[in-house]
Amino acid sequence: MTYLFPNPVASPAKAAFLSNAARKNGPYPEAFKAVLSQAGYSRAAGVISSWVGYAPTPLASLSTLAAELGVACIHYKDEGERFGLGSFKALGGAYAVFRLLAAELRRRHGSVDEAALAAGQMRGLAKDITVCCATDGNHGRSVAWGARMFGARAVIFIHANVSEKRAEAIRSYGAKVVRTSGNYDDSVREADRTATANGWFVVSDTSYPGYTDVPRDVMQGYAVMVAEALGALDAPPTHVFIQAGVGGLAAAVIAHLWEVYGTDMPTVVIVEPDKAACLYESALAGHPTTVIGDLDTIMAGMACGEPSVIAWPILQGGASAFMTLPDDMAVSTMQLLASGKAGATIVGGESGVAGLAGLIVAATQPDWRQTLGVDRTSRVLLFGSEGDTDPDLYARIVGRTGDAVRAGA
Ligand SMILES: Cc1ncc(COP(=O)(O)O)c(C=O)c1O
Repeated sequence: MTYLFPNPVASPAKAAFLSNAARKNGPYPEAFKAVLSQAGYSRAAGVISSWVGYAPTPLASLSTLAAELGVACIHYKDEGERFGLGSFKALGGAYAVFRLLAAELRRRHGSVDEAALAAGQMRGLAKDITVCCATDGNHGRSVAWGARMFGARAVIFIHANVSEKRAEAIRSYGAKVVRTSGNYDDSVREADRTATANGWFVVSDTSYPGYTDVPRDVMQGYAVMVAEALGALDAPPTHVFIQAGVGGLAAAVIAHLWEVYGTDMPTVVIVEPDKAACLYESALAGHPTTVIGDLDTIMAGMACGEPSVIAWPILQGGASAFMTLPDDMAVSTMQLLASGKAGATIVGGESGVAGLAGLIVAATQPDWRQTLGVDRTSRVLLFGSEGDTDPDLYARIVGRTGDAVRAGA
């Protein structure tokens, strides 16, 4: 077994909190603009908003919970309906497939009509290109969906713990699904090996040395979600709790907030499952760190043991704190959102609710609350990154199906 970052550590199995001493003050660093920038966001927004079915996702107000937690407001950006795929990942993988196909078709044919490609009118040329990726579920669904939209082929690698329901959802977009042994990080390596052997193109949501362009495009697609949220708010957020697996989503959120608000950017807290806390461990160590084990959290989208190499510097520079949570916090938060008692009735999936779970823990622990400056004036923004992407698991956890919860909303 090779690890990206050597000397892997076992992840702590408890809720934990760490202030980020390495956070940089000052404006968004020029060096980070090669990874994520407003220019990159504008390009992504132009393409993504041209796709059939594009609509900003709703921003719900959790007013009852805000009063209970002693903050001014809590806004929850609900990605459950994003392009009918169930998660924010629809923005990233599919956009990276688009960018990859545009580059490859340009290389093969000298030029490419990007508007025609985006509209699915270049299928005749795209069908000779195969994209592939490893996934916990949501990213693979996005890559498969993007490949179908633009006419390319897709092969998606899933690891042992990915549920059959998630595999079925990926197949429904016409992709071939290959199950690998081991955990998510093993499936990343398997996808890479197979792609090299077959002349396929890897569209990964995580980056590693020598492979950074595609994951950068994935992350840039996520910024569309952040911009939509900021556009829908009356006033800038003071705090953002954002869940993380490899850190791509959190880096996209931080980069966008940092470039838009500069030194006034909100306090951002990175939230991870305690069983897969590679970013928490990286912050503790001061450098990217691998965590080992089967990473068997119910927060499947966040079951990652190795940080994304291009996301990590942005997280280290821009996050105010890192925290980890046990699975039962995700469970109780899903149930709270389904009950409507937070102020809105929302179908939030296991990974989707993790930022909110982090807020609930941090706002109710006096020392964490104080360290983060959470008080009655705090305006908290959360990203509900998925709905019931595994409908059976959702129904088991909440006691009702996602459809039943939505019908009662
Ligand atoms: C629903 C959901 N939330 C959060 C994440 C974490 O994103 P990242 O791996 O970019 O940190 C994922 C990743 O798959 C996800 O599917």
